[in-house]
Amino acid sequence: METPITIVILAAGLGTRMKSKKPKVLHEAGGLPLIEHVVGTALEIAPAERIVVVVGQQAEAVETAVRERGVRFVKQAEQKGTGDALKACRGAAPETGRLVVLYGDCPLLGAATLKALIAEHESSGAAATVITTTLDNPTGYGRVLRDENGDVRAIVEQKAASPEELAVHEINSGIYCFEGGPLWKHIGEIRPDNPAREYYLTDIAAVLRRAGERVRPFAMADSSELLGINTRAELAAVDRILRERKTRQLMLDGVTIEKPETVSIDAAVRIGMDTVIEPFARILGRTVIGENCRVGACSIVRDSKLGDGAEVGAFTIVDESELAEGAQVGPYARIRMHAHIGRDARVGNFVEVKKSRLGAKSKSMHLAYLGDAAIGERVNVGAGTITCNYDGVKKHPTTIGDGCFVGSNSTLVAPVELGEGSYVGAGSVITKDVPADALAVGRARQVTKEHWAKRRREKAAQTTSGER
Ligand code: UD1
Ligand code: CA
Repeated sequence: METPITIVILAAGLGTRMKSKKPKVLHEAGGLPLIEHVVGTALEIAPAERIVVVVGQQAEAVETAVRERGVRFVKQAEQKGTGDALKACRGAAPETGRLVVLYGDCPLLGAATLKALIAEHESSGAAATVITTTLDNPTGYGRVLRDENGDVRAIVEQKAASPEELAVHEINSGIYCFEGGPLWKHIGEIRPDNPAREYYLTDIAAVLRRAGERVRPFAMADSSELLGINTRAELAAVDRILRERKTRQLMLDGVTIEKPETVSIDAAVRIGMDTVIEPFARILGRTVIGENCRVGACSIVRDSKLGDGAEVGAFTIVDESELAEGAQVGPYARIRMHAHIGRDARVGNFVEVKKSRLGAKSKSMHLAYLGDAAIGERVNVGAGTITCNYDGVKKHPTTIGDGCFVGSNSTLVAPVELGEGSYVGAGSVITKDVPADALAVGRARQVTKEHWAKRRREKAAQTTSGER
C-alpha cells in the first residue's frame, strides 16, 4: 500500500527583500499569487486535507488567497526561521509517514518533479531527500555539502558559509521529502546558532547525520523549476518564465500567437483552437475565449468571455464582460462591468459600453457612451449617442427596443425607453419615453435666414473702407 504523503508549504515570512507591505507569497507571477502556484502543484500530489500551509505574516490575507482550495493552515506565531516554521506543523502531520516540504516562494515547481523526488526518496530509504541543482551563480542559496559517498553532509546558508563553502555551486532548492519518524524526533535539535539567530530548516541535514540517519541529494540537471523568489527582479524573471510556458502550451493546443514574447496571458486563461492573438495583447484573470476568435494588438481582456468567432480590435479593453458568438468590438472600444455584446453585434471606435446589453446584430460604431442600457436586437445607435444614466445621485436605466434607430448625437436622459422600431432624430435630447414605431425629435427647430451671410460680409466691407 502506498504511504500517504503530507505536504507542508512554508509561507509565514514577509519577504523583507521584496521591500513590500504585502507578504511575498501574495505577489503575483503569471497572473496568480505565488502561493496559488505552489498549492496547485501540491494538489496534484496530495488531497487538500493533507496539505498544510504555514502562515504567519498577514496570515488572514494568505489564508484568504487559498482557502477555497480546501487546504489546512497552521500558524507560526513568530517568524523564527524555516526550521521553526516546519516545527509548528508537528501535530498537523502524522508522526510517521512521509512529508514533503515546499517553500511558498518557489512557484515554477511541477508535480512530475515532486513525484520523481518521492520515488527517489522511497527507493533510497533515506531519512531525508533534498532536491539540489548546480547554478552558475549560486549567490543567496544554501550550499549542499556532500560526503565521500555522495550523501548530504550538511547544508550551509550563504550568510553562514566559509569561503570554501561559498565556492560550492550545488544549491539547496528548499524542496525536501522526509520520513516523519526521524524528522519529528530530531527537529528540536536545530539551534539558532547563526548570526541571524534563526532556526534554519537546512540544519536538519547535519542534525539527522549526527543521529546516524542518511540524507540524500536528488540532483536535477535542469534548474528551471527550482528558482526561488526573494526580490522583485526575481519575481519578474519568474513571471516571464510562467508566461512563456503559458503561450507555448496554448500554441501547442492550436492557438496562433503573433510575437508571443510580447503578450501576457494569465495562468487560468483558456483559449480555443484557431484563435489568433496579436502582439502586445494582455489576456488576464479567468478569461475564456472560444474558437476562431481574434484579440487585437495592444488590447486588454480581463475576466471576460468571448464566444466562438468573436473579435476584439486593437487597443480595446474588455473587462468583466461577455461577447457572444461573432460579436466584434473595437478598435479603441471599452467594454466593462458586466456588459454583454450580443451575437454578431458590433461596437466600434471610441465607444464605451458599461453594464449594458447590446442585442444580436445591433451596432454602435462610433463615439458613444452606453451605460445601464438594455438595447434590443438590430438597433442602430448613431455616432455620438450618450445615455445620461447618472443624475448626480443615482444611476438610471435606458431601454431601447428591437429595431430602433437612434440618430447621431442623441442624448437619452434616463430613465427613458424607446419602443420597438422607433426612430430618434439626430441631435435630439430625449427625456420622455418614445412609443413603438414613433419618431421623436427633441431639438430646436432650424431657422434659416436667406442672404444673411452675404449682407453681413457687405456690411463689414463698408465699415472697414470708412475707416481708411
Ligand atoms: C531558503 C533556504 C536555502 C535555499 C532557498 C531556496 C533556509 C534556512 N534556507 O533560503 O537553503 O537555498 O530557500 O529558495 O531554509 N518562512 C516561514 N517562516 C519563517 C521563515 C521563512 O514560513 O520563519 C517561509 C517563507 O515565507 C518562504 C520560505 O519559508 O516562503 C523560504 O524562506 P526564505 O526566507 O525565502 O528563505 P531563503 O533565504 O530564500
Ligand atoms: Ca526564498
